[in-house]
Amino acid sequence: IGRNINYHETVTSTQIIAHQLAQDGAPGGTAVLAETQTAGRGRLARNWDSAAGKGIWMSIILRPAIMPQRAPQFTLVTAVAVVQAIEEVTGLRPEIKWPNDVLLNGRKCTGILTELQADMDSVQALIIGIGLNANQTQDDFDPAVREVATSLRMEGDKPVERAVLVRSIFRHLEKYTDLYIENGFAPLKVLWESYSVTIGKRIRARTAREVLEGLAIGITDDGVLELKTDDGKIHTIYSADIELAT
Ligand code: BTN
Repeated sequence: IGRNINYHETVTSTQIIAHQLAQDGAPGGTAVLAETQTAGRGRLARNWDSAAGKGIWMSIILRPAIMPQRAPQFTLVTAVAVVQAIEEVTGLRPEIKWPNDVLLNGRKCTGILTELQADMDSVQALIIGIGLNANQTQDDFDPAVREVATSLRMEGDKPVERAVLVRSIFRHLEKYTDLYIENGFAPLKVLWESYSVTIGKRIRARTAREVLEGLAIGITDDGVLELKTDDGKIHTIYSADIELAT
């Protein structure tokens, strides 16, 4: 991973470039990086704030031989790799909020967006987008996200060398995708759970259809969240916004 790097000053979104490259046959492990994005995108059709030169805005093309249903697991695998890279480079101790938010002191420092090129029974490419707030100060963030976002620099009180962190992410991601291919999701699920702030907590989950409140009891072997509501029912949640319930 990362042997093939496609670097840009400005792009609309590294996801868009990576999709195009993947369609044109770029090998698995290709990474697209940009200093800034004019139309960075987040999950659930949100924008992603991509301050110029301050963060890691990148999309990685992977070509694992998996069924499309297993793609969400890669979001969790990526989150583990990012957490360990941040730990290694900064000594900070990030946590993961299901499915893909990496938090420092309860504020989001990294978001992960996994997109697919696939048909019913095979994956041609996974496009894994990583948006990591590295060197922003409070003022670099859009006022709308200032309360909930943070950067490694803000939490660690010193700037980080982005290139070092990018290489560490590549190394960890390669290690864990190899582990996944050899041993399946089980060992990664254990790792993911060890960083999770979601499991074992009372949460509120906003899905496209409803708002559910209850206990987050775990993730399944597919990486899907299981939530137990007060009537004892267990709901499986594929996509939602999560907040801790009080
Ligand atoms: C989220 O909503 O938490 C996911 C955010 C993902 C942002 C990254 S930045 C690099 C890549 N390009 C994009 O347009 N989005 C992802």
